[in-house]
Amino acid sequence: MKIAVLPGDGIGTEIVDEAVKVLKVLDLKLELEFADVGGMAYDKHGHPLPEATLKLAKAADAILFGAVGDWKYDKLERQFRPEQAILGLRKNLGLFANFRPAICYEQLTHASSLKPELVAGLDILIIRELTGDIYFGQPRGRRTSPDGTFAGAEEAFDTMRYTRPEIERIAHVAFQAARKRGKKVTSVDKANVLETFQFWKDVVTEVGQQYPDVKLDHMYVDNAAMQLVKSPKSFDVVVTGNMFGDILSDEAAMLTGSIGMLPSGSMNASNQGLYEPSHGSAPDIAGKGVANPLATILSAAMMLRFSLNQPQAADRIESAVKDVLSQGLRTADIWSEGTRKVGTREMGEAVVAAITKKTTKS
Ligand code: IPM
Ligand code: MG
Repeated sequence: MKIAVLPGDGIGTEIVDEAVKVLKVLDLKLELEFADVGGMAYDKHGHPLPEATLKLAKAADAILFGAVGDWKYDKLERQFRPEQAILGLRKNLGLFANFRPAICYEQLTHASSLKPELVAGLDILIIRELTGDIYFGQPRGRRTSPDGTFAGAEEAFDTMRYTRPEIERIAHVAFQAARKRGKKVTSVDKANVLETFQFWKDVVTEVGQQYPDVKLDHMYVDNAAMQLVKSPKSFDVVVTGNMFGDILSDEAAMLTGSIGMLPSGSMNASNQGLYEPSHGSAPDIAGKGVANPLATILSAAMMLRFSLNQPQAADRIESAVKDVLSQGLRTADIWSEGTRKVGTREMGEAVVAAITKKTTKS
């Protein structure tokens, strides 16, 4: 099993290091190959997604990704910005189905900014379409406004669009995922205003007829943003477009206490996947050894489960993470009175130790 490891920028290297330690202790036949990505790749090779990195990613069974981005690249032309690396990987590998589970661990119920009773036992899955929508729609650009009140003025524009097959395939992914969990899908749209999302709603409804055992609801995105903080446990699987999914998944992440806990996986039609923490490169804390590596470690577990067909190994990682939380170990983002504050490395090594301890016991 070939894994392309792309640590990237900011805290990316620190957190990926810990996930790699965890993968290595599992005794699986994994071939890990590292490559440059993001701003550091731009510095070294003049491009955030160098040819060699893309080639390695394409040939791998799965990709373990850290994070990309730093303010110092904000002034670069868009095509050279670090974010283009992750967008390029998603597009080039056809990684259209993005899974962002938001699970509130029992031990972290009090780390959420919401009342504990609202989030205790929370387990929702956001499925975000990842290769379409306004993120990739053409045309886009800057021009002189051709019409309207401000005709002749400078303007910028993007295009929101979805084709039927794009909506159908993500809808199938959502219904199938729901079948394995709470059997409920909430499709989030803005059908009251946008043509694209009226179409989205119509197509999801059609696909839903093939899944009579799964309950389908539709919700406008503004209401969904509200319901997520009002009664988050009323959701099971949420399926939505690229843009809305970007926003709602950050919101859902915070329900769980810290975005530092949330893994994610992006799959294509052949189950090849890219796995990354839901959070970004956090340049403000990079290099300080304080970042939470658990989202990346849990992403490695997702990788084993979804792309490498190693569900038992994934279980071992997930139960080790629960162990270290039960031991009271906390990185700064999830620390609270009465728990022990640890750094990135100590947290990673504690997960490794929890896995080894269980292995020797059994
Ligand atoms: C995410 C990130 C990316 C996105 C950025 C880094 C391009 O916010 O994965 O949610 O907008 O998709
Ligand atoms: Mg985002």
